[in-house]
Amino acid sequence: MGNTSNARTYKLGDKTVARIGYGAMQLAGPGVFGAPKDPDAALAVLRGAIAAGVNHIDTADFYGPHITNQLIREALYPYPDDLVIVTKVGASRGEDGSWVPAQAPADLIRGVHDNLRSLQLDVLEVVNLRVIEGTGRTPAEGSIEERFTTLAELQRQGLIRHLGLSNATASQVKEAQSIAPIVCVQNHYNLVHRADDPLVDTLAEQEIAYVPFFPLGGFSRLQSEVLDAEAHQHGLSPMQLALAWLLARSSNILLIPGTSRIEHLNENLAAAEINLATSMLSRIGQTVQKEAR
Ligand SMILES: NC(=O)c1ccc[n+]([C@@H]2O[C@H](COP(=O)([O-])OP(=O)(O)OC[C@H]3O[C@@H](n4cnc5c(N)ncnc54)[C@H](OP(=O)(O)O)[C@@H]3O)[C@@H](O)[C@H]2O)c1
Repeated sequence: MGNTSNARTYKLGDKTVARIGYGAMQLAGPGVFGAPKDPDAALAVLRGAIAAGVNHIDTADFYGPHITNQLIREALYPYPDDLVIVTKVGASRGEDGSWVPAQAPADLIRGVHDNLRSLQLDVLEVVNLRVIEGTGRTPAEGSIEERFTTLAELQRQGLIRHLGLSNATASQVKEAQSIAPIVCVQNHYNLVHRADDPLVDTLAEQEIAYVPFFPLGGFSRLQSEVLDAEAHQHGLSPMQLALAWLLARSSNILLIPGTSRIEHLNENLAAAEINLATSMLSRIGQTVQKEAR
């Protein structure tokens, strides 16, 4: 299964984080727009995550917009020293909730300042350029030179500590690295959707974190009879088995499963304790792949 590991932590920039973090996107209202139905429950999930040892949270100021970052600030400010908040720029939201590309230099600069303001920070620990080419779930080629140079300049100014990419192709990763170092890549990847297998391995060799988005399938839960049956057989939930497979897939994978429910948060975090043999997980991965074909 590539560069496998049972390690509980991995480096993200100059900090070390637990391999299961938390993705905050699902805390906003339906369609990632507006306020959640129950803001107190959202705050409880964020505080519960930190209390359980999460020290890596993924967000964006265009979730809500602003709502997710405001909830993070309300729940967690002043932030624990070891917490790495990773945000992304490259989109904004229309009044109807539509997703609007915001990739011009001025948009990216505004995006960074919006995040600094809503998270109440002087420096953002990690900012991903969310590349807009492609379908939203699958990246496509296109030069990112101007966009990434803009973020590298903001890094030089001291507003960003580390840079990353999201929804990027392998050649966009290389192009970015010719401009400034990156510490993570966040792309669509899970037990069923594995187009990024080669990129996961390339980044592992370079000791760069790979952070799958939609680790549980995103807006529609991973569908696999094999996964459900194997999970049942091992006394796990299918989502736990899907996370355990990702953890075993490569040591540079950091997870950010999203949930608005404390029960799911706890269930997901417990995946770190699963001790199935790598060969068993590898076989399950292959069987799920065969089923998906
Ligand atoms: N860079 C990008 O373009 C991009 C795109 C999408 C997402 N992201 C980031 O990646 C993170 C993860 O993606 P995601 O949240 O969209 O998708 P996900 O983690 O694959 O799945 C989240 C969905 O699964 C449900 N869920 C979570 N834990 C569960 C469990 N134990 N059992 C059953 N259902 C469970 C959640 O519902 P409940 O609320 O009911 O638990 C939610 O609907 C996001 O939060 C966001 O930070 C980035």
